[in-house]
Amino acid sequence: MHSRKLAFGNLMKLLRSFAVTGCGLVLVVLAIGGCNKTATDSNEILIGHYASLTGSQATFGNATDTAVHMAVEEINAAGGINGKKMRLITYDDKGDKREAGTTVTRLITKDKVVAVLGEVASGLSLAAAPICQENGVPMLSPSSTNPKVTKVGDMIFRCCFIDPFQGAVCARFAVEHPKLKAKTAAILYDQSAPYSVGLQEEFEKAFVKLKGEIVLKQTYQEGDQDFSAQLTAIRGSKPDVIFIPGYYTEVGSIAVQARKLGIETPMLGGDGWESPKLGEVAGKAFNGCYYSNHYSSQDPNPRIQDFIKKYKAKYNETPEAMAALGYDATYILAEAIKRAKSLSGKDIAAEIAKTKDFDGVTGKITIDADRNAVKAAVMLEMKDGVATYVSTIQPGM
Ligand code: PHE
Repeated sequence: MHSRKLAFGNLMKLLRSFAVTGCGLVLVVLAIGGCNKTATDSNEILIGHYASLTGSQATFGNATDTAVHMAVEEINAAGGINGKKMRLITYDDKGDKREAGTTVTRLITKDKVVAVLGEVASGLSLAAAPICQENGVPMLSPSSTNPKVTKVGDMIFRCCFIDPFQGAVCARFAVEHPKLKAKTAAILYDQSAPYSVGLQEEFEKAFVKLKGEIVLKQTYQEGDQDFSAQLTAIRGSKPDVIFIPGYYTEVGSIAVQARKLGIETPMLGGDGWESPKLGEVAGKAFNGCYYSNHYSSQDPNPRIQDFIKKYKAKYNETPEAMAALGYDATYILAEAIKRAKSLSGKDIAAEIAKTKDFDGVTGKITIDADRNAVKAAVMLEMKDGVATYVSTIQPGM
């Protein structure tokens, strides 16, 4: 009621002020159009993004959202989607499962977005994917690697590789890399994160297949600060390598504490290590440690260097893997919407599914029958806090 009164008042004001000018009528028509404006302006296509902009994984959400914004700006500057502008609505899920559900529900029911981008952490994607699936709204995760995410249903996609591949990449690296030549491994993982639980299983499977032996497994929980009991046990088991498929927040403290306990054993991790914070917090403690990732900012490929240059010029930072994946995900979604027969979830999903040889910053992306992307991984070595490129591992290695 109140807003109607306001709108009417504004209209009257406009009428009065412009009645004297010749263009009064045109403006009145425009004003009425403005009053009827609903959440979905017919000249805009609304896209949602849910991300951890605050909380313990804030670098994940911020890096992704920055790159998604950059892609949206570029797409709009190049004419948008079939003449319509792409409009992005991002909500902070604070790295919390319940918030992930709430934000996605809001994007779908209140904002009426046509598709959703997110999340980075698999646990959060798993929390929100069922809501997208039930509402028939496509969700494209840029970087959740746990296989369960896309199994939620035919509306759920991702444009990164999955952990059975990533685990095998790490296991093979542990066994084959000349500086590791591991025959035994200990595993330290976050039992509260589906990502960590899944990736350590996959590593174990692949490592055992390569005749390696897992000598000890230890666990921790998100938010833990003291890892001395687990690390002391690991020290006693004398492994050739320690596999730690966790997120950077805890992994940084783990590395520092391990070195304090005199553990010089090389540590190995997955994409969850990717954060500028890792080097800042633990710097030299990570020397001689490795992790698998989706891309390397040191890759000379012009497609990658061009993206890095644009990102740096805008935000004065080197983009992390999440940023590169967020950027690719936004383009994949925009192109799918462009090709779709209508803006219905079903039609958009059908086109995301057809993504083939998309030339992304994170490699050539083809979505397979399980709605996952089949693509290469890179291995990086930590050198004085800098993640340095080592090698690229193709799928089906
Ligand atoms: N793959 C991780 C997960 O599934 C998230 C992640 C992606 C973290 C890329 C860092 C970089 O939870």
